[in-house]
Amino acid sequence: MKPNFGPFSPAVEGILHGGDYNPDQWMKFYPETLEEDFRLMKLAGCNVMSVGIFAWAALEPEEGRYTFEWLDKVIDGLWQNGVYTILATPSGARPAWMAKKYPEVLRVDEMGVRALFGERHNHCLTSPVYRDRVKQMNTRLASRYRNHPGVILWHVSNEYSGECHCELCKAAFRDWLRERYHDSLDELNKAWWTAFWSHTFTSFEEINPPSRRGDSNLHGLNLDWRRFCSDQTIDFLKAEIAPLKEIAPQIPVTTNYMDFTQFPLDYYKMAKELDVVCWDNYPWWHNPAYGQDEEAARRAFIHDINRSFKGGKPFLLMESAPGPTNWQPVAKLLRPGMSALASMQAVAHGADTVQYFQWRKSLGSSEKFHAGVVDHYATERTRMFGEVAALGEDLKKLAGVIGTSADAKVAIIYDAQNHWALGDTKGPRAEHRDYFQTCVNHYKPFWDRGIAVDVIDSEAPVEGYDLVIAPMLYQVRKGVGEKLSRFVEGGGTLVTTYWSGIADDSDLCFTTGRPGPLRRVMGIWSEEIDALYDGETNPVLFAQNNLGMKGSFAADTLCDLVHLEGAEALATYQEDFYAGYPAVTVNRCGQGQAFYIACRTHDGMLDNFYQALAKQLKLPKALDTNLPKGVTASLRGDEEHAYCFLQNFEGKEHRVNLKNAQYTDALTGEPVSGTVVMRPYSYRILEPVEGE
Ligand code: GAL
Repeated sequence: MKPNFGPFSPAVEGILHGGDYNPDQWMKFYPETLEEDFRLMKLAGCNVMSVGIFAWAALEPEEGRYTFEWLDKVIDGLWQNGVYTILATPSGARPAWMAKKYPEVLRVDEMGVRALFGERHNHCLTSPVYRDRVKQMNTRLASRYRNHPGVILWHVSNEYSGECHCELCKAAFRDWLRERYHDSLDELNKAWWTAFWSHTFTSFEEINPPSRRGDSNLHGLNLDWRRFCSDQTIDFLKAEIAPLKEIAPQIPVTTNYMDFTQFPLDYYKMAKELDVVCWDNYPWWHNPAYGQDEEAARRAFIHDINRSFKGGKPFLLMESAPGPTNWQPVAKLLRPGMSALASMQAVAHGADTVQYFQWRKSLGSSEKFHAGVVDHYATERTRMFGEVAALGEDLKKLAGVIGTSADAKVAIIYDAQNHWALGDTKGPRAEHRDYFQTCVNHYKPFWDRGIAVDVIDSEAPVEGYDLVIAPMLYQVRKGVGEKLSRFVEGGGTLVTTYWSGIADDSDLCFTTGRPGPLRRVMGIWSEEIDALYDGETNPVLFAQNNLGMKGSFAADTLCDLVHLEGAEALATYQEDFYAGYPAVTVNRCGQGQAFYIACRTHDGMLDNFYQALAKQLKLPKALDTNLPKGVTASLRGDEEHAYCFLQNFEGKEHRVNLKNAQYTDALTGEPVSGTVVMRPYSYRILEPVEGE
């Protein structure tokens, strides 16, 4: 296992448990709630609160008049009651006076319309005025609280995202382009293929961000704009962090990430600026449209991305709903056990905190029906409160988990920039590109078997892994093909799929034959790709081969037509004019092997394939047993400890056979062996008995 990473803040001795706390909404009209909250927090086993996230209007009610006294009272009160503070910078939403006085802080949309004051997460990324106001605020927060023993982490802003098309942002974009293309319009015109539709630029001033009013089909422009928005947000983040680090260097910083199905920003790049990463997890449980195990695997996949950002360093679960949200179309109640299980799932995959949105439900506005630990009728006698409190008790027993991690031998590449480029393509199918879900489909067979997986971007190092999987790696940026080839030559196993190796950093197609820089290592040439209509399939037949795969599976959606150039075919298409063409290939290259899955499948092919590969590569499992459907196991450990988290995501009881292994239940201290009964929506945490 990896060595222990230690706690994210020196003060932290166990897993933290708490949530977003907004006393600023209550202080004026309901001041009595503060003491009541402290009482309830203790009952709920909560020891951390994120404070001040949207509190700018309460902190600076008019320009230059700072009113931090209420915050002093909150942070002091929390501390006296055994609760740490994660202190936010309030830039996620600004006060009305600021928008009125300095309209430049408001975003301009792609149609050129400046927003009115309102909502949140919508400040201009560039505005010097906003940056200055934020700097003033952050400087004061840092100066005032730098030595407060209760303040353990900066929560910078909230869920950064989006874009602004104001003149300041346009100018910054043009500067960004000048730097990227070394002041050369020739370089830019070449990279963007601007001769297409006569878009050749003769001055940087002619370039505008993509917009429905102007250009939205210049893919190089689109991609660079997304990169710029991401970089400009990172620049904003750095500007926010600077005064915090200057004044209070000992307090670590984070910012909360959100939608991993889309990558609003290049989170991989942003993670480099953070001391610890965190994310906001809002699963879609109990939806009859798909199995609980599918949603559980999606969530596990995202937790694993968060654990992988910093080489395995534990992350924080910054937000999660203890019950239904206000924004999902159907606010189904979480079945008994589900909230605690979802929280423990995060810990199982590397989280060192469990935090909710929100501690207390607001009385008004759009989030009044979003679950909170404390309801409008503020009593500890609710089901939700009880479940949170019970989880709090369990978390107290898991102090040894802090700083431990997983030791994955498998990595899946799920790349932000690839996502953007792939999402922008026209063809071969307008719908169902499904990059996120495709990566999850390659992940699920490992989740089903309790095999640890890291999730990384394409530029991350791959040494140390036995197996690297790069589904739909459409964009192969400079150096990536070479790196993956070296990985295989050195003995690694690489798997990639249809619609890989198509375009470069600038979204220009490779002229060297698909899959571009991966062609040699894969030992194939993909000449064409067929798009199938929904419902159409083509059977794929495996000949008995060294993987032990056999039988027939249905290909759908996208089918690559490849020629062998050194690789051997493991399976072939059975129908249509490309019957007999390879559908799955393997190329032995150096000491390693490279598999190409030329088509999409939905009927267990990936499960069979990865089962065979896991066996061949002897990939380590958290538990040496066959897990029932909907049950998984994940291991966290360091050089001294190991914790095996068994989780049952199904609404029915399951049994897990531990074979001859001996464990101690980390929560009860009791010995565990033989068959473990897993109640519906439940977890068990098992520590292997020494010598096992
Ligand atoms: C998050 C956000 C919170 C809250 C929550 C509701 O995205 O950071 O402030 O709005 O959603 O689910």
